[in-house]
Amino acid sequence: TGPETVSPTGAPTGAPQVANGQQGDFLTTSAGARLYDTDHSLKAGERGPTLLQDHHLREKVMHFDHERIPERVVHARGYGAHGVFVGYGTAANVCMSAFLGDGVETPVFVRFSTVLGSRGSADTVRDTRGFATKFYTQEGNFDLVGNNIPVFFIQDGIKFPDVIHAGKPHPDREIPQAQSAHDTFWDFVSTHTEATHHVMWNMSDRGIPRSYRTMEGFGVHTFRLVNAEGETALAKFHWKPKLGVHSLVWEEAQMISGIDPDFHRRDLADAIESGAYPQWELGLQVLPDTPRQTFEGIDLLDPTKIVPEELAPVQPVGILTLNRNPLNYFAETEQVAFHLGNLVPGIDVTDDPLLQSRLFSYLDTQLTRLAGPNFNQIPINRPHAPVNDMLRDGFHQHAVHAGVAPYRPNSLDGGNPFEAGVEERPFVEVAQPLPKAVKIRQSPTSFADHYTQPRLFWLSLSPIEKEHVVRAFTFELGKCYEQTIKERELLVLANVDPTLCAEVAKGLGLPVPAPTTRPKKVTPSPVLSQIGQTWPTD
Ligand code: HEM
Repeated sequence: TGPETVSPTGAPTGAPQVANGQQGDFLTTSAGARLYDTDHSLKAGERGPTLLQDHHLREKVMHFDHERIPERVVHARGYGAHGVFVGYGTAANVCMSAFLGDGVETPVFVRFSTVLGSRGSADTVRDTRGFATKFYTQEGNFDLVGNNIPVFFIQDGIKFPDVIHAGKPHPDREIPQAQSAHDTFWDFVSTHTEATHHVMWNMSDRGIPRSYRTMEGFGVHTFRLVNAEGETALAKFHWKPKLGVHSLVWEEAQMISGIDPDFHRRDLADAIESGAYPQWELGLQVLPDTPRQTFEGIDLLDPTKIVPEELAPVQPVGILTLNRNPLNYFAETEQVAFHLGNLVPGIDVTDDPLLQSRLFSYLDTQLTRLAGPNFNQIPINRPHAPVNDMLRDGFHQHAVHAGVAPYRPNSLDGGNPFEAGVEERPFVEVAQPLPKAVKIRQSPTSFADHYTQPRLFWLSLSPIEKEHVVRAFTFELGKCYEQTIKERELLVLANVDPTLCAEVAKGLGLPVPAPTTRPKKVTPSPVLSQIGQTWPTD
């Protein structure tokens, strides 16, 4: 599929189909002057010295010197693909977004990633995986920036630098956590018990997916949906792989890391190239938008909690097919910039404090990573909808804007910039939980239960999945040098489940601590056990 619309500059939008640095029949400088020799520098005589006037030498080496840009501060290792999303029209009663309409086809770009490793790290390490989707909808770009794990380590984005500092390589030796001292990671998660749920998923087989094609994806946060009547609902986004959910076992993951560190990207590229296009169904858990924004006692603004699918089934709303590999890794996969603020009518954010800080962080980091404020003009980030903004100038400006000055109203310029469209939409009423706001720096008490859902996860696993979790905890904690950290994490596990704690303690050769909280009764969820789990659509 080629570009669908043109930008104000006349440049094609979407992925570059023609490499615009490779036109014509002969080699040129970047200014288009023909070159006859790119193998020898210009010298004064056969043996030099080299002449400073050799512009081609200087341009060639200068450009090479600047080929690298900063890798992402997290999710640096990733791989992307193009595809198409087709709506089923089933979401119309809760969401007015055009791209969810029946049979509406929307081009997409998806980037999968690991979180902690650097750009050259191995694919099959135990980690969370990113699952970020850019929908180039007719109403502008919608970015769904999710993970393959439905919960997060922290409940407030102000802790994000802390959790990432604890997980990244140590500053003195630059040795990644995955291979060496694990003390900082386990120190952090054992002192932040809200991380327990995410850690349980990491230590399960979900932490080592078999393929990107066999991963679920989750929007994690609760979003707010708005329908054409202005009625709201709360919702969680899910991606369900058509191939089912499959993982590696730890020994496989270890061996593959050595034999083929590019295993996941090769798997995805090969599958697409051979026509075995991977597919995911997009599903919604729809929840009432009540003033308290809770459901069955679960605070929907707490990103460390799931809503069990038994309580709110995932309802399919469309299907994603990845069918085209990028032409150029750097231009597309490296330069794509996702942002949770890229929303379309019908989908809105909630007050989840983790989500709120993400709204700030991505824009901010991309200013540095993509060198300036015009990164939405990079072909992979350009909307397929017409753009008519009032943003001007700045580094890497590609648009040639007309008109006297970008302000509104402007009586000098025949109505240019154009008027902002008058929204003919009903007002959206959003319930306010608090009659009066106070400035406060503390977690809500409804975020305080850190053990019930990790216990639900554990009790829902099959015996072999449980065994894998025990082995993963034992292996990873076994890498810690500090005994106190191991003991503190065992106490966390004691509060999740006595059997889990006893098994890991046995593996570590440490005493079993007594729990400090009484576990709540939970009913296991068959959906959380991944073995044999498929999405039964055909
Ligand atoms: C990158 C997911 C929390 C900051 C990413 C990416 C994903 C992701 C998938 C990779 C995007 C790509 O492929 O280009 C998530 C999820 C979160 C979460 C699901 C929690 C639910 C946070 C928080 C912050 C944050 C709380 C900061 C306060 C970043 C940054 C990047 C990033 C700075 C790099 C973006 C770039 O360089 O373009 N995240 N993240 N994330 N995330 Fe998050």
